[in-house]
Amino acid sequence: MSLKLAAVTLLLVEVAASGDTSFIFNGFQSSQYNLTILAELTSNGLLKLTNGESLQEGHAVYSSPVVFKNSSNNGSAFSFSTSFVFAIRPQAAELSGQGIMFVVYPATKSLTGLPSQYFGVFDPDSVGNSSNHVFGVELDTSMSTEFEDINDNHVGIDINDLKSAASAVAGYHNDDGIFNALRLASGNPIQVWLEYHGMNKQINVTLAPINIDKPKQALLSFTKDLSPILEENMYVGFSSSTGMGTASQYILGWSFEINGQSQPLELSQLPKLPRKGDNKHKGYKKVVLAVALPMISLMLVLLVTLTVNHVIKRKRFSEQLEDWEQECGPSRFRYKDLYLATKGFREKELLGRGGFGKVYKGVIVIAASKTEIAVKRVSHESKQGVREFVAEVVSIGRLRHRNLVPLRGYCRRKGELLLVYDYMPNGSLDKYLFNKPKLTLNWSQRFRIIKGVASALLYLHEGWEQVVVHRDIKASNVLLDAEMNGRLGNFGLARLHDHGSNPQTTHVAGTFRYMAPEHIRTGKATTISDVFGFGAFLLEVACGRRPTEKTEEWLDNANLADWVYDFWKKGGILEAKDQNLSTDSETEEVELVLKLGLFCSQSEPTARPSMRQVMHYLEREVPLPHLPSTFRHHTQDLPNPASPDRPLLQTSVVESILSGGR
Ligand SMILES: *[C@@H]1O[C@H](CO)[C@@H](O)[C@H](O)[C@H]1NC(C)=O
Ligand SMILES: *[C@@H]1O[C@H](CO)[C@@H](O)[C@H](O)[C@H]1NC(C)=O
Ligand SMILES: *[C@@H]1O[C@H](CO)[C@@H](O)[C@H](O)[C@H]1NC(C)=O
Ligand SMILES: *[C@@H]1O[C@H](CO)[C@@H](O)[C@H](O)[C@H]1NC(C)=O
Ligand SMILES: *[C@@H]1O[C@H](CO)[C@@H](O)[C@H](O)[C@H]1NC(C)=O
Repeated sequence: MSLKLAAVTLLLVEVAASGDTSFIFNGFQSSQYNLTILAELTSNGLLKLTNGESLQEGHAVYSSPVVFKNSSNNGSAFSFSTSFVFAIRPQAAELSGQGIMFVVYPATKSLTGLPSQYFGVFDPDSVGNSSNHVFGVELDTSMSTEFEDINDNHVGIDINDLKSAASAVAGYHNDDGIFNALRLASGNPIQVWLEYHGMNKQINVTLAPINIDKPKQALLSFTKDLSPILEENMYVGFSSSTGMGTASQYILGWSFEINGQSQPLELSQLPKLPRKGDNKHKGYKKVVLAVALPMISLMLVLLVTLTVNHVIKRKRFSEQLEDWEQECGPSRFRYKDLYLATKGFREKELLGRGGFGKVYKGVIVIAASKTEIAVKRVSHESKQGVREFVAEVVSIGRLRHRNLVPLRGYCRRKGELLLVYDYMPNGSLDKYLFNKPKLTLNWSQRFRIIKGVASALLYLHEGWEQVVVHRDIKASNVLLDAEMNGRLGNFGLARLHDHGSNPQTTHVAGTFRYMAPEHIRTGKATTISDVFGFGAFLLEVACGRRPTEKTEEWLDNANLADWVYDFWKKGGILEAKDQNLSTDSETEEVELVLKLGLFCSQSEPTARPSMRQVMHYLEREVPLPHLPSTFRHHTQDLPNPASPDRPLLQTSVVESILSGGR
């Protein structure tokens, strides 16, 4: 994890066997060797569990195990009480994450949980398992529907699980019994008292602002015998995490006592929090940049981050993200965050409309910097589909290649699924090619895009642990990033199958005119049918025309490949090239691309090259073979789209959802 391991080593490992554990920290000093810390200790004695990076964890645990029961006596858990003061300073007021947990866990284990909603204590496998023996009190500033959180500002009693056994909106009752709400992430210090009464089996949690005495009435009072939960030797401490929303989370002081009342904290001795203005000022600057200069804000924020943050810090961050991605796949976003990011899915943020949903632009705080995203929003009902969808998204999210549009994550709600992609500032390639574009691309730009898409497709076919068939390669599925690199998007139609196994028969899906004849006939998509689609894409880019277009020159049934083929037969294939390309364009490369386009468009699947061969041809490591005189293009073999064979062309739920264009 990216936190500094403070210069605090574990020297006292003696078991507090004799007598009951009792301690008090009015602030934390690095000379105190009785805390094991994976967090930062500030020079003035604050325990800084997280420092505002996303997907972070911090822990601080009393080094010696605490004896919570005597099994040779009656085996029931002792009474205990603790009080501590914490503060949560969110990076952006509306986006705090995640919170702090006071945690008691077996001395035989260590805190190895995940960040975000797991608080650094649990992970998807362990959460809810009664063999955890974990007792916790969560101060949660995010709402996780998965764990049935009541809101994004609550206190919960957690027993082996993140679905709280009892929870309440954060706040306190004054002496007249009137409830005062408290914002956990207000940035101000808040005191917490926790008591467990061994005889009554009662757990009480109370909180109040630091300037207010302990309220008489507990916020949460829950009856539960902790004897089966607590083992004889347990560690006590704090675990804290951030998610996509980030915050700096502090503990200012802590006291604890077994079989008695914990000593009151000396509030006047507690270390001071950093001035609030410091944080605000930074945040404000960033916001101004993003608002005033939307086009280059991303670059500027990156620059600011670069200068402000240490290089090492950045490196640490990227490692952390990778770790996490390997373990969990793409992240699950909170709906609220996506809602805020897209300004409530405002019409103004609409980037496009696909067959199955709309795509919105959004700005979200990731790794403490504002990041532009594209959110595809699709309505959805079936439960069955949701399971497939999540499995699919998790696989897809693990694909990483510089010519693929990264899928950052997803969110699902009742009747709705959302996919979060990196925002591609220059939109889709078709905008620059067809229908008298305002802006056209020169040949070297086009050739770079072609090579990029080819290498992405090769990666999908051969570079990953599973073969991924894209199924829908076309100019409108290629997006351009800030440097005009082509990135293949919409892996929606990708169906995964293991290397070597037979491609399974699935429903046909794809864009009809780009589809290989055998794919249409049999419904089987293969890497070789992808090559066919790539051939159509090559011709689109070189000719600046769609595969089928109603123009005067073209006969009813003709298509782009036939048209190029006719030029080739007459010995003048270059006449097919886009009129918008200057005459001095690299004619050799244009010719190569046009011929390769035809070569990939052969109706006989075995005659087409593999993507690996395609790469060799594009890099001109191997000369392109002569087109066979028996060259047949697919219109000659194409079933009539309106014919009754059509029933093959049904799409499954998942494919439909994912294939909606962006
Ligand atoms: C921590 O250890 C130091 C040095 O051994 C000791 O002086 C101090 O009282 C201990 N503090 C607590 C809270 O146990
Ligand atoms: C546990 O209880 C037994 C019997 O009452 C007693 O002899 C022993 O000292 C206790 N151990 C601890 C660690 O308190
Ligand atoms: C069990 O022992 C503890 C500590 O010795 C004591 O406080 C508690 O009352 C006992 N419980 C029962 C049910 O006897
Ligand atoms: C609970 O955890 C134990 C120990 O790790 C494991 O053996 C068991 O299978 C888990 N139970 C469930 C339901 O996951
Ligand atoms: C818990 O709170 C209730 C109600 O506020 C109170 O009656 C009870 O004595 C408290 N129990 C403990 C163990 O502090």
